[in-house]
Amino acid sequence: MTTIDRGRLASLLDEERALHHQRTPKSRAAFEQADHLLGGVPMTWMNKWSGGYPLYLATAHGNRVTDIDGHEYVDFALGDTAAMAGHSPAPTIDAVTERIGAQGGITTMMPSLDAEWVGAELTRRFGMPLWSLSLTATDANRWALRLARMVTGRPIVAAFSYCYHGSVDETFVITGPNDTTAPRGGNVGPAVPVSQTSRVMEFNDLDSVERALSPRDVAVLIMEPALTNIGIVLPEAGFLEGVRRLCDEYGTLLLIDETHTISEGPGGCTSAWGLRPDIFVIGKSIGGGIPCGAYGISHDVAARIRANEEADLVDVGGVGGTLAGNVLSTAAIRATLGEVLTDKAFEHMISLATRYREGVESTLAEFDVPWSIAQLGARAEYRFTRPAPRTGTESAAAHDDDLEEYLHLFMSNRGVLMTPFHNMALMCPATTSADVDLHTVLFHSAVERLAV
Ligand SMILES: Cc1ncc(COP(=O)(O)O)c(C=O)c1O
Repeated sequence: MTTIDRGRLASLLDEERALHHQRTPKSRAAFEQADHLLGGVPMTWMNKWSGGYPLYLATAHGNRVTDIDGHEYVDFALGDTAAMAGHSPAPTIDAVTERIGAQGGITTMMPSLDAEWVGAELTRRFGMPLWSLSLTATDANRWALRLARMVTGRPIVAAFSYCYHGSVDETFVITGPNDTTAPRGGNVGPAVPVSQTSRVMEFNDLDSVERALSPRDVAVLIMEPALTNIGIVLPEAGFLEGVRRLCDEYGTLLLIDETHTISEGPGGCTSAWGLRPDIFVIGKSIGGGIPCGAYGISHDVAARIRANEEADLVDVGGVGGTLAGNVLSTAAIRATLGEVLTDKAFEHMISLATRYREGVESTLAEFDVPWSIAQLGARAEYRFTRPAPRTGTESAAAHDDDLEEYLHLFMSNRGVLMTPFHNMALMCPATTSADVDLHTVLFHSAVERLAV
């Protein structure tokens, strides 16, 4: 088995950083001159790009982006799923252009006729009968947690160690000593310690789920059906059924967040695997890049919401935002779901992700590198450990900043963009097998240099 020589990795990384600086002077200058932005970027997470500064965007179409230094990239980051439909897909552009141009209106406080179409399509895909629209998946999750606490009359949220559901306070949990609920490192300004609001569980560990739920004070268990934000951690046989059963047994609502796992198919894992959530959250991709999100609820949850006559769902009850459900986002969702992220598009994207995974697997086998790769429909991601991790905690332990930066820079210096957060690659309708093969060749060459 090949072990990574850290000295060799350090010198390869230096070479890639130097090449990055040489190739992207305009991006570097733009970053260094940004005196009026916290961290030099419009949103601080943009500092996550490898190489010390982000590449500045010039254009983005389909699965290609260009930077201001004039380089073109095959984009496997795709806005960390927000651009899973490809950049600026024509039907979405036409619909939003019509909406804001000829028809007029971006935010008017009035619904448009697109909204019911969108609700019906979300029901067709994901099964939940009733929907509310938000501007982000984070918002959808936050509001769904409030509703869950209200209808159950319980205070606690159960979440998996190293999960991510947006900037949702209750979900920044990891497993601490003796299975205690501990805050995830670096959490900024929590209102109260997370152990007061939340209880941690480990993915693929039904005993930990039962420990969390058995005190019968948990309003809602929030989960991705496969973890996608700490690498991809796939559920083992029987795990998701077990979670559903335990939620039923202890009176806890099950919230399934498919913001990323929609990569599994047109109806996400929920449709593909026959899941039965009480609350469902989606966002990012369904708007074709226009900000949006949505949560769906069962008839039972809806009846319990309606039964609470005190709840102020119309004004300042804590669920809502002025821009949520705006007609621009709604038009974008209608066009994207109706014409871009179709069943046929998913077939194409999933077959390319399979090709991508097989390409990575063949290099790992050839050099006997102890890494693994997991695929979830149209996305795949390698992790620096083998066998593939079973829990968020195991996956977090496999993180390696230097290896990640080396591979990211090796790719971007040769025209391929990976998601700045870990090693995710996502396919969109415009991705081709030649794009995937380019990654396969580059990955082989990057690993070969490391392994020799
Ligand atoms: C599973 C999941 N839910 C919610 C979110 C939050 O989405 P947004 O940043 O659009 O609010 C993310 C973001 O990565 C996510 O991965």
